[in-house]
Amino acid sequence: MRKKIVAGNWKMNKQMEEGLKLTFAIKETNKNFPEELEVVLAPPFIHLYAMEELLKNQPNFFLGAQNCHEEESGAYTGEVSAAMLASVGVDYVIIGHSERRHYFNETDTHVANKLQQAIANDLNPILCVGEHLAIRNDKKHFEYVQQQIENTLFSFTADLMQDLVIAYEPVWAIGTGHNATPEQAQEMHQHIRQILQDQYSKSFANNLTILYGGSCKPSNAPDLFQQPDIDGGLIGGASLSADDFSAIIQSF
Ligand code: 13P
Repeated sequence: MRKKIVAGNWKMNKQMEEGLKLTFAIKETNKNFPEELEVVLAPPFIHLYAMEELLKNQPNFFLGAQNCHEEESGAYTGEVSAAMLASVGVDYVIIGHSERRHYFNETDTHVANKLQQAIANDLNPILCVGEHLAIRNDKKHFEYVQQQIENTLFSFTADLMQDLVIAYEPVWAIGTGHNATPEQAQEMHQHIRQILQDQYSKSFANNLTILYGGSCKPSNAPDLFQQPDIDGGLIGGASLSADDFSAIIQSF
């Protein structure tokens, strides 16, 4: 059975003390998980080391980073490598988030290089894809997401991507309060699974966890998570509140 995941992307929020309190509250409220459900917390880099202490020995909790650099090491002032993330106990790394693509000019080539680094350092990549509103209005969203996947993933063989997770995050839904409807999300998730099936295999596609992200909250998570191809969520704003994030976790 494929994994279900609820991941919290804190973005550039929470001071250290607040982050530790939030982690503790989420951990305390969420016990007795179904075995296949993983909860990933992705704080700013600087909190990772301290949070690893809080999360170790918690079988359903995993630590995520929000980005990594595309090179192994070197003179890249201010950057953090995948190997460094692995060395502090990080399990997952979000790659290609639309905010990285937009504010930091990340292209599919950068994203593919970062995936390479994640794979080389045994981190589970969470690859983000998703269209802008104008593309959806032009009815080009299926093609657009397909192109993002081809450009970033197709140079890797299936056996290198056993730990891959894909997050479909339509840009128009991120931080806007307007989530994709369960039907819109489901049809894109099904499309993504089909692309991976055509390129790799049916079993690869069936085992792939695909998350939905974009204004996911306690009120809409149950309907989204009920869809057959939606295996969980990548949560922004609602992951900053222990009550909201826990309610989303309990939606399964
Ligand atoms: P919101 O849940 O705040 O819309 O953000 C989604 C997101 O970007 C998660 O990566």
